[in-house]
Amino acid sequence: LANGLATTPPMGWNSWNHFGCQIEENVIRETADGLVSSGLSKLGYTYINLDDCWAELNRDDEGNLVGKKSTFPSGIKALADYVHSKGLKLGLYSDAGYFTCSNQMPGSLGHEEQDAKTFASWGIDYLKYDDCDNDGSKPTTRYPVMTQALMKAGRPIFFSLCEWGDMHPALWGSQVGNSWRTTSDISDSWDSMITIADMNEVYADLARPGGWNDPDMLEVGNGGMTKDEYIVHFSLWAISKAPLLLGCDVRNVSQDIMDIIANVEVIAVNQDPLGVQAKKVRNEVWAAPLSGYRVVILLLNRKSNRATITAYWDDIGIPENSFVEARDIWEHKTLEKKFVANLTATVEPHACKMYVLQPIP
Ligand code: GLA
Repeated sequence: LANGLATTPPMGWNSWNHFGCQIEENVIRETADGLVSSGLSKLGYTYINLDDCWAELNRDDEGNLVGKKSTFPSGIKALADYVHSKGLKLGLYSDAGYFTCSNQMPGSLGHEEQDAKTFASWGIDYLKYDDCDNDGSKPTTRYPVMTQALMKAGRPIFFSLCEWGDMHPALWGSQVGNSWRTTSDISDSWDSMITIADMNEVYADLARPGGWNDPDMLEVGNGGMTKDEYIVHFSLWAISKAPLLLGCDVRNVSQDIMDIIANVEVIAVNQDPLGVQAKKVRNEVWAAPLSGYRVVILLLNRKSNRATITAYWDDIGIPENSFVEARDIWEHKTLEKKFVANLTATVEPHACKMYVLQPIP
């Protein structure tokens, strides 16, 4: 969407994967504090997004959405002010239907302009817009109404489409929003994560600066996968130019998890200005061009035995006879050996290797 936002995929945090409906203003304030004190905000994680359940079930007498009094007693505007004072941005969640997916707050269908104005007046920077409990009309009729409303609201607001991929929002999303889901909800397991990454890859050609495929939010740090599996999860999201929205409790992150989500070299792949989403080029080799004539590759082992995986220059857009310097961006090491025609690595089960390749002139 041409609203000047999302030149690179958004980065930040969202409440849903860890907290579900159990959100309240102190947790959000502490999350803002945590993003800053951990150094994560400096790495680019700047959106703090409230998901479902932030509002009262009933609108006020004028039909306005109201923050839930029992859990957000200071109101959403005060929370936005706090988050902004930390140099961060605040996002909210609504729905292109009558009620949101939790059924615990109203949707915005029929109230698009009013809600967009409310969001802008509170200083909201990001809107995730779900598709539950709608009137049965096509999302291509309902979503653009909110797009127009946001564009008129007088504040740049990142617009995240959360139709679950059934209506292939990747095919129409670039006119309507800054990101669009390509799958149903992720869960904190290897199978869910890998399935979703594969489903999202199908639409790789449709991602570009201003509009990104969204395979759902990160589960890294929520406890359901091994460290290697979470490294695969983060690597796949980074190389797929997916939104990097943390879904763990960032007030309390172990060093192992920090090593993953704060890997500046992997983040740089995600935030590369070229903005090209990786594709599977052969078996378990994923690749994408980067700025500066570089190429990033991911060698993925989804089996339970150790695997030997080869990336061929032919498949990844590097001239066959080029000498290439390879940097392992998980080991943070540039390999001494120079590679010609291909690169082979041994990859442990449920793990990956990720290299940035630089052809030597
Ligand atoms: C849907 C979305 C999730 C989350 C929940 C909230 O399932 O896909 O990401 O927002 O609704 O109810």
